[in-house]
Amino acid sequence: MSISYAPAGKSGKWDGVMDWFQMLSGASLILFMWCHMLLVSSVVISPGVMNSIAEFFESTGLAQVGGPLIFLVFLVHFVLAARKIPFRFDGQKTVVQHAKMLNHGDTWMWVIQAVSAMIILIMGSIHMWVVLTDLPITAAKSAARIQGGFWAAFYLVLLPLAEIHVGIGFYRIAVKWGFIKDRERGKFKRGENVLTLMFITIGFITLIRFMFLAIN
Ligand code: HEM
Repeated sequence: MSISYAPAGKSGKWDGVMDWFQMLSGASLILFMWCHMLLVSSVVISPGVMNSIAEFFESTGLAQVGGPLIFLVFLVHFVLAARKIPFRFDGQKTVVQHAKMLNHGDTWMWVIQAVSAMIILIMGSIHMWVVLTDLPITAAKSAARIQGGFWAAFYLVLLPLAEIHVGIGFYRIAVKWGFIKDRERGKFKRGENVLTLMFITIGFITLIRFMFLAIN
C-alpha cells in the first residue's frame, strides 16, 4: 500500500517516472547489498582474502568513486520513496488503521519497509561515513572497530534491518512490476525469506569472525 500526495489529475507522468527511478535505485542497492555482504564475509575464509578484495577496489578507484556514488544512490532512493511515507502522526495512524483493516501480509510488509527505512537511513549514513572517511578498508581495522563493542551492537541492529528491508524490497519490486504472477507470490515470498535468513546468518557469522580475529 502507498499514499500519493500528488494533486488529483497532476500526478500521472512524473509520478510514474519517479516510481521507475525508485525501483531502479532500489534494485541497484539490492545488488550492492548482496555483493557487499559477500565481500565483507570473505574474512571468514581468511583476512588475506578480504584485504585483497579491498585492495583491488582501492587500487582501481572503485572504493573512492563507487563508495560516494552508493551513498548518493542511497539518499536519492530515500527521497524518492519518502514521497509515499506519511511523516505526520495522523497520517501514520491512518496507515496502521488501514493495515489492521485490510489485514493482508503485503500491507504489513509495506509498514515494516517504511519504518526500517527511517532507521537504515540514519544508521547506514553513519556507517558509510565512518568507513569511507577511514580508507583503506582492512580486515584488521574492521575487526578493531567491532571488538570495541559499540560497532558490534550497531551492526547487530543494522544487519537484520537492512537484510529484511532488502528482502521485502526485492519481493515488492517483483510484484509491483509484474515479474511474478499472483499465484506465484507465496512461493516467491518463502524463497525470499530463506534468502534473507541466509544473509542474516552469513552476517552474524562474519561478526563473530571479526570479534575473534587476532589484531597485530
Ligand atoms: C559505500 C558503501 C559501503 C562500504 C564501503 C561498506 C563497507 C563495510 C565494511 C568494511 C564493513 C566491515 C565492518 C567495518 O569495517 O566496520 C561493513 C559492514 C557492514 N555494513 Fe557496510 N559498507 C557500505 C554500505 C553499507 C550500507 C548501505 C549498508 C546498509 C544499509 C551496510 C551495512 C553493513 C552491515 C550490516 C555490516 C555488518 C556486516 C556483518 O554482519 O558482518 N553497509 N561495511
